[in-house]
Amino acid sequence: MGTNVDLSVRIGTNVFANPVGVASGTFGYGGEYGGLVDFSDIGAIYTKAVTLEPRGGNPAPRLVETPSGILNSIGLANVGVEKFISDKLPFLKSLPCAVVVNVAGSTEDEYLRVIERLESVDASDVNGNGTVSTVNLSGLLRRFAPRNDRHCERSEAIQIIDNGSIDTGGVNNNGSGVFGYEINVSCPNVNHGGLAFGTDPAQIERLTSSLRRLTKKPLIIKLTPNVTDIATIAKAAESGGADAVSLINTLVGMVIDVKTRKPVLGAKTGGLSGPAVRPVGVALTYRVKRAVSIPVIGMGGITCADDALQYILAGASAVQIGTANFINPRTAGLVSAGIREYCVNNGVSSLKDICGIVE
Ligand SMILES: Cc1cc2nc3c(=O)[nH]c(=O)nc-3n(C[C@H](O)[C@H](O)[C@H](O)COP(=O)(O)O)c2cc1C
Repeated sequence: MGTNVDLSVRIGTNVFANPVGVASGTFGYGGEYGGLVDFSDIGAIYTKAVTLEPRGGNPAPRLVETPSGILNSIGLANVGVEKFISDKLPFLKSLPCAVVVNVAGSTEDEYLRVIERLESVDASDVNGNGTVSTVNLSGLLRRFAPRNDRHCERSEAIQIIDNGSIDTGGVNNNGSGVFGYEINVSCPNVNHGGLAFGTDPAQIERLTSSLRRLTKKPLIIKLTPNVTDIATIAKAAESGGADAVSLINTLVGMVIDVKTRKPVLGAKTGGLSGPAVRPVGVALTYRVKRAVSIPVIGMGGITCADDALQYILAGASAVQIGTANFINPRTAGLVSAGIREYCVNNGVSSLKDICGIVE
């Protein structure tokens, strides 16, 4: 059999050429990884959450390692929609991968205003010469480097060093640098909005249908695992007009320092991510796939192609790599190459043929 495998994934009015994206909050606004990754290996960048106004986030410390994972309480720290458009979107628009803007808010109105503002951006407002910033993640997460199995690459924690912009020619992200929107109704690290929306089916349906009226672009509702019945929430998003649901966001957790007898995180609780949560994500993907007919985008603890294939067999049409980016920012490229190899070796000509085939 040849090496031609159809990995494309339709989400509403648009198509991902490659099903493997990088998850919100783990890849900044893309520029932070300039020079470290080949953006054409990535299916989509899901940006850090964008809110109407800039947010400083929660008090430090905001990250702590846990067995096979991390607990974060970043709290939606971000530059706000205006700076996103002026400072981040130009660079994102220059990339050869899809750009999905992750949107968050404290009220329904805030979500609507962010989408309205992004929709108002005309392609001529942005150019390909965005500036980039620096983050330093050295030393983080050494302890849960990916397993060394067939499709997994061992890797080192690395220092992320800014090295400027990338000129690639780019794909058409629907004419304004934006492929679509991922609506974060599932952040456990904020006091208002976020999770409050994500746990109430009526609010989810209402918010989704209000957003639906504002855009024809793919609308992906990101679900929380911190609910009793995630299938009900997914169905509410579908009824409201979502093109896809993505899951899982992080699980609420706490780490206590027994010497100080205080929680380690400034915000006391945080969101658990990384390999520790993968079985939860796979199980919920399986459950949601059977509840809705829109595509499911799976994530949680994916470090290699075999991990991603578990999600796909459970019912994910596409996947996202989150915490593993802190170990190796090239993970998405390795995962999509591994998925292709798996398909070639197993006579699978289209990823759709194995999506959700687990009984
Ligand atoms: C440091 C950090 C920041 C995150 N920020 C966001 C965010 O802004 N918006 C969002 O929807 N999810 C956010 N997430 C959740 C991830 O996108 C993803 O859903 C979760 O981490 C599970 O995937 P993983 O186990 O591969 O990391 C964040 C996760 C981490 C670790």
